[in-house]
Amino acid sequence: RRKRRPQINGAAIAVTLIFSLIIGLCLFLIISGKNRATDNTSDDPAKDVLAGETTEAVTTEDPLPYFTLELQEGQMYYGDLILVNAYNEYFFPDEAENEIAVIADLKNEYYGLSDYTSSTELSRIAIDAFNRMTLDFFNETGFKWLQVNSAYRDLESQTQIYADYARDYGEDYAKAYVANPGFSEHHTGLGVDVNVHIEGAVMPVVDNAECQWFRDNCQDYGFVLRYPEDKVHLTGINHESWHYRYVGVPHAQIMEDLSFCLEEYIDHLKYYTYDGICLGYSPETGVYDMSAEEFYEAESGTMIYYVAYDMTEDKNETLVPKDCEYTVSGNNVDGFIITCTK
Ligand code: DAL
Ligand code: ZN
Repeated sequence: RRKRRPQINGAAIAVTLIFSLIIGLCLFLIISGKNRATDNTSDDPAKDVLAGETTEAVTTEDPLPYFTLELQEGQMYYGDLILVNAYNEYFFPDEAENEIAVIADLKNEYYGLSDYTSSTELSRIAIDAFNRMTLDFFNETGFKWLQVNSAYRDLESQTQIYADYARDYGEDYAKAYVANPGFSEHHTGLGVDVNVHIEGAVMPVVDNAECQWFRDNCQDYGFVLRYPEDKVHLTGINHESWHYRYVGVPHAQIMEDLSFCLEEYIDHLKYYTYDGICLGYSPETGVYDMSAEEFYEAESGTMIYYVAYDMTEDKNETLVPKDCEYTVSGNNVDGFIITCTK
């Protein structure tokens, strides 16, 4: 008997062929699409930053080189750049108070405290900068006789100091040298009174020749002389050769370069906005105008800009460049200062 030959089903073959063609086409489209996304990068790394992220991170969905940051009203009242003076009261925000530490617990051996029993306090960030500065001062010159004689003050101690000065030297003198309670930057934990203490004698840093290093270099550690002689009309406080203020780097360096006191610097920064011109800075070139786009393209540097607080808006926000480190400081007046570094 002849074996029955298997039947060839034409319809089944056609279905299988069409199905394979569809799968093949899909695979081709997926693979070629992937290559197109990776090819989106150029040979120019600056253009890659502009396009979004690094080569791997570039996606067609998120090409923007910045993100949106929400700013809370409360942030306006703390940060390295808050301006506290006769017109701008300090409100003791919890965030800032939590940063206050006992200097004796964190200090190095290259400076002293006028009173070790009084638990003199200062903001941690300022203690850290003061430690680095005094260590370098010692390494450069062998000098270790700076002394902190006043730093953080709460409302009560400022009230006491004011009363003591008024009693001992008269009301006018107290007004000229001691801020009204609530209006002293000693409240911020960023102000520090510094003298020299050698062999039992205390003298102002300005009268000690060896302290020239400290006066010349303190801005590189974030400190500025807060009440200079030629700025009394702006600060409203007589020249105090002992009162230094931590504002951080590079702000202290910029203030020194431009010879600005804090009142002038805070005002000056209001010209710089993300959408317009920002303030660029590098230690090599000093201050220059820069746009946000130039910052995206730069390999390194600092860009600073101001964001006004708008109380009529439900939400205050700003754009911030990606791929950089940034800090937000309130100015304690009317807005925020964003400092971006890469
Ligand atoms: N001596 C400065 C002005 C203060 O009391 O805050
Ligand atoms: Zn002071």
